[in-house]
Amino acid sequence: MNIAVFVSGRGSNLKAILTSEELKQLVEVKAVISDKISCPAFQIAENFSIPTYSIGDKAGRINYEELIPLLLDLKIDLIVLAGFLKLIPHELIDLFRNRIINIHPALLPSFGGKGLYGSNVHKAVFESSAKVSGATVHFVDYTYDTGNIIAQKCVDISDVNSSEEIVERVIKIEHELLPYVLKKFALGKVNIVDKRVVVH
Ligand code: GAR
Repeated sequence: MNIAVFVSGRGSNLKAILTSEELKQLVEVKAVISDKISCPAFQIAENFSIPTYSIGDKAGRINYEELIPLLLDLKIDLIVLAGFLKLIPHELIDLFRNRIINIHPALLPSFGGKGLYGSNVHKAVFESSAKVSGATVHFVDYTYDTGNIIAQKCVDISDVNSSEEIVERVIKIEHELLPYVLKKFALGKVNIVDKRVVVH
């Protein structure tokens, strides 16, 4: 399965994909794409000899009109948003319907939506006094964090004293959940049945 990974920052989920032994025979990362001109995730991609592309309108970047033929040329089967913080244009979503997934650092449909990304999510979870959090992988639709849920994993946070402790627990879970979901996609084990996503 050929994938393109969209990133905005650190790239620890990208690294989890690239270093997963189970994914080595199943998944090839063909491109890493960012809305930033450079970011730590690009360095990770470069260490694995994966081409990187910045998207946007400024000089030195490609725009979405150029990105679409690139993704088609690379025969991308699945687009993976791993810490990518911008909305995906409708045209790309329509072209890759049910073939764009996102990882979110909380148990959707709670603690999602515009502005709730990265550490903001964990602060909101901490302030709510929730006793569990976790990670969600879901399909991407036209709005933030509303697409159908593919897989979730939760973690006990009843004893935490700060949102940073939640970050640490959830990121570990993300690094397990995203490779697991990619393996299921690669094996053809993700199906949509009567609007529910079934992973078997
Ligand atoms: C991850 O925690 C991911 O779930 C989150 O950004 C972080 C990226 O970390 N994504 C969102 O908040 C999207 N709503 P990484 O760059 O180290 O993978």
